Amino acid sequence: MSKPSVARDSSESLLHHELEVTIEKMAITGEGVARHQTAVIFVPWACPGDRLKIRIDFAKKNHYHGRILEIIQPGPSRVQPPCEYAGRCGGCSWQQISREQQLLEKESLVREILEKFLPGMDLLLNPIIPSPKAFGYRSRIQPRLQGSELGFYGWKSHTLIPVKDCLLVEEPLRNFFREGVHLPRRDGKAEIKVELYLTQEGTGAYRVLADEVEDQLFSQVNRLQNDDLISTVTQWSQKHKPAIVFDFYSGAGNFTFPLSAAHKSAQVVGVESNAELVRLARKRSEQQKTPAKFLEFYATSSDIFLRRFIPDEKTLVVLDPPRGGTSEFVLKSFAASGLKHLIYVSCNPVSLGRDLSFLKAALASRGKKLKIEQIQSFEMFPQTNHLETLVELSIDSH
Ligand SMILES: C[S@@+](CC[C@H](N)C(=O)[O-])C[C@H]1O[C@@H](n2cnc3c(N)ncnc32)[C@H](O)[C@@H]1O
Repeated sequence: MSKPSVARDSSESLLHHELEVTIEKMAITGEGVARHQTAVIFVPWACPGDRLKIRIDFAKKNHYHGRILEIIQPGPSRVQPPCEYAGRCGGCSWQQISREQQLLEKESLVREILEKFLPGMDLLLNPIIPSPKAFGYRSRIQPRLQGSELGFYGWKSHTLIPVKDCLLVEEPLRNFFREGVHLPRRDGKAEIKVELYLTQEGTGAYRVLADEVEDQLFSQVNRLQNDDLISTVTQWSQKHKPAIVFDFYSGAGNFTFPLSAAHKSAQVVGVESNAELVRLARKRSEQQKTPAKFLEFYATSSDIFLRRFIPDEKTLVVLDPPRGGTSEFVLKSFAASGLKHLIYVSCNPVSLGRDLSFLKAALASRGKKLKIEQIQSFEMFPQTNHLETLVELSIDSH
């Protein structure tokens, strides 16, 4: 076998080369970031400060992807991952990083990304709120079944890693998983997606996700941290006395119900495109002991809703879009309206930054100014690169 060659300068492609690098920080994609001369290299399962011997497997237009061959000197925050599948299962990308460092990395990622999209803006970032639990926090997981093997995909691949335990799930669900889930065989399908979830009675259960629609029934997975998220949204909303609250991307009403309880005399409207989630929200509304008088749910897209209903200065908008962020139409509608107060809930700082930058420009073109009142990140998904960020915004029309 020929010895891998060593790249001498940055003009030479690094593909298939072996290099020694130091990990500078973590990227929002989950990998560690290293530099070799002017080249940027992403390395999965790395830790800040790691001195590594890596091999470059992929070359992209502006960067490379490498794989760890040897940890020459572990970074100061490197820990032994407690999970036996860590480093193979694609579910956790940060188990090798200490909890404290995970929190620091998330704080700096949010700062760095938002500074890039909103140069010169005062960001007013609060310290991140840690999840009440670092492990055992998930109330549902969606493994895949191939033949009789249940598992998760590997890192950025569609290769199934058979898994018989998961440290991220709540204890009763973990026990259920460990006992072995006996799933019915599905003829004709090479692979099916399953959801293991905690029932209201606190026991484990599963269902086969038969189609994409079921797959898209969103609910927050970290119940304890979701309570913190809800109370922060509600608390911020109470600074104002809105006559109307629009909760865009409302799901089954995660924020809509607490907002309606906090603003009893306001009209509170949940807007959600998934009809099944709206059905669940309406059912919950009917089952409430004292049904809220002014609570409504619309099964439609935010864009269509905003063609009919325009927020005014007495409206408070809460929006919690999917990872891709909201639409330009939604942001332009906000800019054109009399809206003064918004709370943006985001699970992706990149789409958040892009949307805020677009909204800022759309407002500026109308002589209005976007102001960040505060930013609060939540450690919603410990051991992974994912997080939740809340931004309180106000619009100044003078
Ligand atoms: C991140 S989830 C938030 C759900 C809810 N706020 C919660 O905390 O459980 C985003 C939701 O937006 C819904 N959605 C996606 N596109 C939409 C659109 N264009 N208009 C309205 N809702 C949409 C999805 O079905 C999903 O329920």
